[in-house]
Amino acid sequence: MAAKIDMAKFAKFCKETGFIFQSSEIYGGLNGFWDYGPLGVELKKNIKDAWWQDMVRNPPPGPDGQEIRMVGLDCSIIMNPQVWVASGHVAAFADPMMKCEKCERNYRADKVFAIRYFDMEQMKELTQEHMAIFGEFKDGKPVSSSSFDAKESLISFPWKVDLTVEADTREDAQVSALSQLTSSQKKLFRQPWPIAYPMMSPAVPEHKRTCPDRTCGGLLTPPRQFNLMFESHAGVVQTDDTKVYLRPETAQGIFANYRNVLNSTRLKLPFGIAQIGKAFRNEVTPRNFIFRSREFEQMEIEFFCRPSESMTWYEYWRDLRKKWYSTLGIQSSNLIPREQGADELAFYSKGTTDIEYMFPFSEEPQELEGVAHRGSYDLEAHAKHSGKADDLAYFDEELWNNDSQTMATRSFKEWLKSNPTAEEIAKYKFTPHVIEPSAGADRFALAVLCEAYHEDKITDAKGNLEERIVMRFHPRLAPFKAAIFPLVNKDGMPEKAMTLYRELKAHFNVFYDDKGAVGRRYRRQDEIGTPFCITVDGETMANDIVTIRYRDEIGADGKPVQRSIAIGEVKNEIWKALATD
Ligand code: GAP
Repeated sequence: MAAKIDMAKFAKFCKETGFIFQSSEIYGGLNGFWDYGPLGVELKKNIKDAWWQDMVRNPPPGPDGQEIRMVGLDCSIIMNPQVWVASGHVAAFADPMMKCEKCERNYRADKVFAIRYFDMEQMKELTQEHMAIFGEFKDGKPVSSSSFDAKESLISFPWKVDLTVEADTREDAQVSALSQLTSSQKKLFRQPWPIAYPMMSPAVPEHKRTCPDRTCGGLLTPPRQFNLMFESHAGVVQTDDTKVYLRPETAQGIFANYRNVLNSTRLKLPFGIAQIGKAFRNEVTPRNFIFRSREFEQMEIEFFCRPSESMTWYEYWRDLRKKWYSTLGIQSSNLIPREQGADELAFYSKGTTDIEYMFPFSEEPQELEGVAHRGSYDLEAHAKHSGKADDLAYFDEELWNNDSQTMATRSFKEWLKSNPTAEEIAKYKFTPHVIEPSAGADRFALAVLCEAYHEDKITDAKGNLEERIVMRFHPRLAPFKAAIFPLVNKDGMPEKAMTLYRELKAHFNVFYDDKGAVGRRYRRQDEIGTPFCITVDGETMANDIVTIRYRDEIGADGKPVQRSIAIGEVKNEIWKALATD
């Protein structure tokens, strides 16, 4: 599990070093919006560049050993609103919410838990059926019908303490509720037994919904649907006809352009279309720094393939995407792929895996990326709504050309006249299946920051123990790849160091620093995660040999290793660290 981090201290560090700022902070900020500072913008750019390079320009060969065909897109954020009707976002992209009538705060209904305490004597009278009602609700619906039978008797059951809390999971809700009991309440129970059930539960209407903020004491409204899409208007007149949405995902731009890409590239199945771009969701409860924001960036691939090969591709992308995070320095033990159970899957999906990361602010792993087998759902939805079914179908020319060799027919059109069965036609003309690896650039940036963050103590020049922070970024993601120092500001060293700096900055983002003692300069670079520090010293002036310090290679003395290398070799040394294999 990732080491716990004091998140307040961590956010302060990210601000002070220039990784992440609160958006419009001088006006009090805006909940759910963040800005990337000078270091943050480099880190995020490196993340997006690494993804583009490894997934779009140079993906590894597919399961059949063949090269993968991938192209990119950059679609507009605002699209024809019909796109969102077809995708289902207008109707269904909504979270049920509850508003406190007193303090007016909004809560996601599935994050609000009602807690009841029974004492142990009463617990003995609860039957299996009673218990079912507490445990088995999903999306507001009971999983087993027996729950409903038990509802009436349960509501009339006496309980001792009633609480409402806000939490991510039932377990967190129980812990939170326990901590809110007064000591005299605790004495009432020999063994307190908090039972938490989500406010979405049908048992809830009978329950008084107090605000989870106990100092408020207001009552919550029943859950109401709340669309997560930001709305705007295209044009000067603000009517329903000019209503548009800021895209809540980049994926739909890919589906909407599927035919344009096919026509302009002459791609053949299987192939992928990738896009990196901003997405907007009016999240009810943005939280955990940049983990859940209202404006964020996604890195999405829609991989189109033959239905018969779709499971092989699903497994390929699931495994490749998990591996990608490890190659960029995320420890495998912090990466947890969670395959969704049959009961969680969307009806059209044959499999979905959430690649989760053990963020230090949470007791449970949280989603970094979803890899979903989406079947033909999206293309078919757009075919239906746009009326362009033919545009969104795929004619498998390669397979047809192959099979038609043995058929007494010259063309597919001519063959259709021979009245083949629907099944026979579907072999050559079908809607491709889609595998969608959908990652969040900001979520990954947060994981990278958390993973890199190390606090330790070192002895300073005066022999005192000094606390410091070292950011152990993978070199590919580090904002600066190297820092160049003249040992002293005389004897021609600054000029030589500046020449080296100028040569390197044509290839990498590097930093020149001639201020303060070298030890201090090392410290400053460790704090912002620079993997290499290169010092121009007397040996450089005499023999063109520089000293290179490797931040993450620790020697027997417990300090970063330093080696002497020819000045002409520095560039290669950095390239080596950036190589992908
Ligand atoms: N097209 C599929 C799709 O959008 P999703 O699971 O809703 O699926 C994909 O989002 C990824 O986008 C998530 O795994 C996460 O990394 C990122 N993401 C989603 N909502 C986010 C938010 N509010 N803030 C930051 N990242 C978010």
